[in-house]
Amino acid sequence: MADSMAGAAERPVPIAVFASGGGSNLQAILQHFSGPAGDVGRVALVVSDRADAGALERAARAGVPTRVIPVRGRPSDGVARETLDALAAAGVRLVALAGYLQLIPAEVVQAFRDRIVNIHPSLLPAFGGKGMYGIRVHRAVLEAGCRVSGATVHLVDEEYDRGRILLQWPVPVLPEDTPEALAARVLRVEHAIYPVVVEALARNLLSGGDVGAFRVPDSATFRLVDEEAPDAREVRRALGLQ
Ligand code: GRF
Repeated sequence: MADSMAGAAERPVPIAVFASGGGSNLQAILQHFSGPAGDVGRVALVVSDRADAGALERAARAGVPTRVIPVRGRPSDGVARETLDALAAAGVRLVALAGYLQLIPAEVVQAFRDRIVNIHPSLLPAFGGKGMYGIRVHRAVLEAGCRVSGATVHLVDEEYDRGRILLQWPVPVLPEDTPEALAARVLRVEHAIYPVVVEALARNLLSGGDVGAFRVPDSATFRLVDEEAPDAREVRRALGLQ
């Protein structure tokens, strides 16, 4: 843990969300922390590598500060410095990637070890890695003949989609599925599970615990979700949260 992050965590925990696209997961997180969970965490900063990301508009509408940090064609150490400065200035303790398409520089991963999470629209380690994002994931799942897909929340390390898995929720693949239909079914589950996991990590920080120590209870069960996505209550129950 970086020295600047030692000691008791500020309450609510300042969270940064990184997004390159439309930001529907960002929206779900904003909504979650505008309710009772607002006592636990708050979105303090939204970072994007793209000035035209829809996520930036969603952030602005919610009154959350935004920062565009271009990545393409720049050396990684410059991006890392700019990113770490922006996170420090906003007092960020926890980072949630939500459709962020760039690799997080190693210096940032090191400074925020076990404090960066990502959501991926498949059951990792299947259908992950560089270039495996968006509709490509669901197309590959259908082409492989999978009968089950799902969403994965995992810690972020120095490689794409590789850190320790925190939570997976299964989603059936239906016979008549198109990539778009499957994507929509998985996305509904993403919106239900991601904010709850981010809240659980923020709670760990507040209780002085090690964020990376987060574990889903062995007894947890996950309903296979067809049309009806789980609600926050069902996800909390699965995670053993109050
Ligand atoms: C989601 O499917 C997420 O799993 C993946 O990128 C997509 C982002 O969608 N990492 P949105 O921008 O949150 O709507």
